[in-house]
Amino acid sequence: MISIIKNTKSIVEQNVDAIVVFVPENFLYEDVQPIAEKYFSALQDLMMKKKFTGKALSTCVVTGENGSQSVDLVFIGLGKPGKTGAIDIETYRRAVGRAVRIAETRNTTSMAFQLPHGALFNDTAYAVAYHTTTITYIAAYHFNEFITDADQKQDTLKQVVFVTDHADAEIVEAMNAGAVVGQSVNQTRHWIDMPPSHLTPTHLANKAEAIANKHGLKLTIFSENEVRQMGMGGLAGVSRGSDNDCKLVILEYTCSKKDAETIAFVGKGITFDSGGLSIKPADYMEKMKDDMAGAAAVINAIEALAILKPDVNVIAIAPLAENLPSGKALMPGDIVTFYNGKTAEVRNTDAEGRLILADALSYAVKHYKPDAMIDLATLTGACAYALGPFYTGLMSAHDEFTERVTAAAESSGDRVWRLPFHDDYKAAIKNPLADICNIGSNRYRAGAITAGLFLQNFVEDVPWVHLDIAGTAFDVPDISYYRFDSATGVGVRLLVDLAMNWNVKKS
Ligand code: BES
Ligand code: MN
Ligand code: ZN
Repeated sequence: MISIIKNTKSIVEQNVDAIVVFVPENFLYEDVQPIAEKYFSALQDLMMKKKFTGKALSTCVVTGENGSQSVDLVFIGLGKPGKTGAIDIETYRRAVGRAVRIAETRNTTSMAFQLPHGALFNDTAYAVAYHTTTITYIAAYHFNEFITDADQKQDTLKQVVFVTDHADAEIVEAMNAGAVVGQSVNQTRHWIDMPPSHLTPTHLANKAEAIANKHGLKLTIFSENEVRQMGMGGLAGVSRGSDNDCKLVILEYTCSKKDAETIAFVGKGITFDSGGLSIKPADYMEKMKDDMAGAAAVINAIEALAILKPDVNVIAIAPLAENLPSGKALMPGDIVTFYNGKTAEVRNTDAEGRLILADALSYAVKHYKPDAMIDLATLTGACAYALGPFYTGLMSAHDEFTERVTAAAESSGDRVWRLPFHDDYKAAIKNPLADICNIGSNRYRAGAITAGLFLQNFVEDVPWVHLDIAGTAFDVPDISYYRFDSATGVGVRLLVDLAMNWNVKKS
């Protein structure tokens, strides 16, 4: 694991393998002159020849020397300010990701980052230190638990030094918070990347239990028998085809503030989705170990919050099951009754996420009456098709809560895009035999929206936002701090931001 420290000496006085400077487009050469003087006198000439002007995410890497030591000089462009007059902080996050990638290809073990001024992003020094820390951890993540070849392990970078002239404790605080969140994101990704036989509902429930014990969170785990006896026909139904028992996991963080509000996080936890009897074609099944990304995100977000201690109560609820075909499996045509008493015809056993979430949402509403509720689910291929890998689909009938979630999305980097959620689409899930149907009628298409409207039947009047992370939870290309072929941990940064700013942003 990487260790990150802070240092107020100048960038040219750092004893590291590589120094990294982030520069806006058309930066002034005098800003990098001290580096040229110490390490590489022809720097300006080289930058001109290479046409390095600081365009967004362009890089210039030079090997300089200091006596008998070589030092990599890494310059990364931040581009120009946008409409707001500031450079987008997301560009900076990706620039930090680039720096870590460069370290990997050059076997760098120690690096110093010159932290840019917050003003460049119209933000605070705290925010810059916080995001630099989270992204340094996130970019360095690599799932290598099952790799035995040392060369393939890719974990050369050991130490990063943040160079900043801010001597204040605020920067250290930001770095500590950033480390908590970065590590939570990575733990989320690790769980998602684990092979499905190594991460069954029971394994996942055990991990939640370890978190509860470590941080003193209240924990409730219902077994498959209890789930069935409580009348959770969705969760019990989906799990019927599997030999491994389902679980319903509930973690509770209670803040020290009196009369604080409560937010519920609900996450889909299908540890493997074969489709059930409505079985998926082989290539659609390849990544279906990742179908518990929502559950992993809510459990890890509450762990981060147990450390960061916001003034709001948080509960994380994760229904966990395997969706497999067998002689005992749920059959197309079956009608299930959920925890809130509503019924649905299951026409397609591959639309299982909404079945387990229906029970979890109903449970949250009945037992906690939260002030707000947000669910995260790798729910529909339709959402992944509609928005691709860069935006999570947001569906909600509640404008004010949507605004708060959108603000948390923008500042955290887990971006969301709101889809229409009009009652018109409800006609798609009407059913002649039960209250609703678990798939939308083909005539209406809009599969992401009709899935969201299915869930709406289980939230009563609680302000609620549904996030469909099917496109954003794994295999995201081009973003430097993620790795294609691996999970992103999407949602953790957003949920932490939302809870940490709960009392601040309410206007
Ligand atoms: N877990 C899948 C959705 C999914 C697809 C997530 C691709 C990530 C990537 C979900 O359970 C599912 O199978 N949905 C079906 C619903 C359909 C049967 C109405 C889908 O999207 O095809
Ligand atoms: Mn499915
Ligand atoms: Zn699924």
